[in-house]
Amino acid sequence: MSQDGRLLIVDDEEVAVRNLARVMTREGYRVTTAMSGSEGLSLIERQTFDLVLTDLRMERVDGMALLKATRASQPDAEVIVITGYATTETAVAAMKQGAFHYIAKPFHFDEVRQVVVEAMTKVRLRQENRRLRDEIASYRGKARFITQDPATRRILELARQVAPTDCNVLVSGDSGTGKELLVGFLHEHSNRHKGPFIAVNCGAFNKDLFANELFGHEKEAFTGASSARKGLIEAASGGTLFLDEITEMPAEMQVKLLRVLQEREVLRLGATAPVKVDVRFVAATNRDLMRAIADGLLRQDLYFRLNVIALHIPPLAERRDDIPLLAQHFLNKCALQTGKPIKAIAPAVLERLKAMAFPGNVRQLENLIERGVALSSGETIELEHLPEPPSLPSPADTDQAKNRLCSLQEQERQHILFVLAEAGGNKTLAAQILGIDRASLWRKLKRFELDSG
Ligand SMILES: Nc1ncnc2c1ncn2[C@@H]1O[C@H](COP(=O)(O)OP(=O)(O)OP(=O)(O)O)[C@@H](O)[C@H]1O
Ligand SMILES: [Mg+2]
Repeated sequence: MSQDGRLLIVDDEEVAVRNLARVMTREGYRVTTAMSGSEGLSLIERQTFDLVLTDLRMERVDGMALLKATRASQPDAEVIVITGYATTETAVAAMKQGAFHYIAKPFHFDEVRQVVVEAMTKVRLRQENRRLRDEIASYRGKARFITQDPATRRILELARQVAPTDCNVLVSGDSGTGKELLVGFLHEHSNRHKGPFIAVNCGAFNKDLFANELFGHEKEAFTGASSARKGLIEAASGGTLFLDEITEMPAEMQVKLLRVLQEREVLRLGATAPVKVDVRFVAATNRDLMRAIADGLLRQDLYFRLNVIALHIPPLAERRDDIPLLAQHFLNKCALQTGKPIKAIAPAVLERLKAMAFPGNVRQLENLIERGVALSSGETIELEHLPEPPSLPSPADTDQAKNRLCSLQEQERQHILFVLAEAGGNKTLAAQILGIDRASLWRKLKRFELDSG
């Protein structure tokens, strides 16, 4: 084990310092020495140490003062005090102040060595713990958009550049490509990151509820409105409003929203005067935008307003180099969250992943890795921890034409099975890809008598 711990030795007895320093340097520690308490103090104020080994009795600044200073400015460090006169009182006082240990002079170097190893181990553990906690916090907090694909990196770079501006942004990409993550990234890299981030799923409300949610109302605007209420647009003032699934917004609302984007003000229901708002609008969709406009799902004028900056995230299958990178990222994240000692993905698994179609994109990959981590009891995810790949057609029915000469129902059955297999058996995801709700998928599976559960 390498011992590159940073050790500070303080004693006003020169010989004692020199001897200790020699022994500890030989043990592999990075040793700094101080010949007085005040010299030690100024070192503690300027540098970081893992362990301070100090004599208790010194002129002017004594060991107790050093102990207190270390506790105050170096929360990870430990202190070992050496007492020339083994008075229990001072030893007890030092321990009370948080010293790791005390050693009475004269001591054996072996004894010191042993105590130093113990203290260093404790410091290591504490530092490691903190690092893990920080890492977990970084996964939870700041959005880390991982990619090494050149085209996607350019998108991320563009996002970083436009983040501090107040331009409206429209993010597009298939389901599970990381649109929401990218929107979070935009907010966190904007000057509004201390302000609110409010996400609205535009498909979640009918038009009346929606108007109320977005614009709020004055007191008595309608029966039951016993008090005035701010809408989400106003609530997002100073921050970002994320309009997810923008194409699902009722047409009437799109007109109203357009007005907000133009005037930068909202009119609460039942109000006579509008309120100014300072909101950055970011919208997202997993539909093909041109088709959504052609189909009348998204008003063209609203589209132009929102689409000041367009960020399109390519599907995972078009950036296969991201697959191993993301897989390892999700593995680390999952290992941290579950506390499992899992570290690697077997090469065969990576091969299989790199060849998959990934209709559910990054979310599907994340689910696969989570499942693999859950199933594995060792340090690696092996092939057996992946769901069965969709079975290849047997030689008897490779004839495509023959395959296609089947009823619509059979075609549907095959397609559902295929999607379900690609989605790693995840029914929620499969339903999402198929564009039907989970309940319908269950019903269909029941009908096919495929669902054993
Ligand atoms: N590049 C990436 N780096 C790290 N994690 C990612 C990346 N892309 C996606 N993810 C993760 O994949 C999952 C799905 O991403 P997200 O919810 O942002 O997708 P989405 O495009 O909004 O999907 P949907 O269209 O279904 O709403 C999330 O857990 C997200 O953190
Ligand atoms: Mg989303």
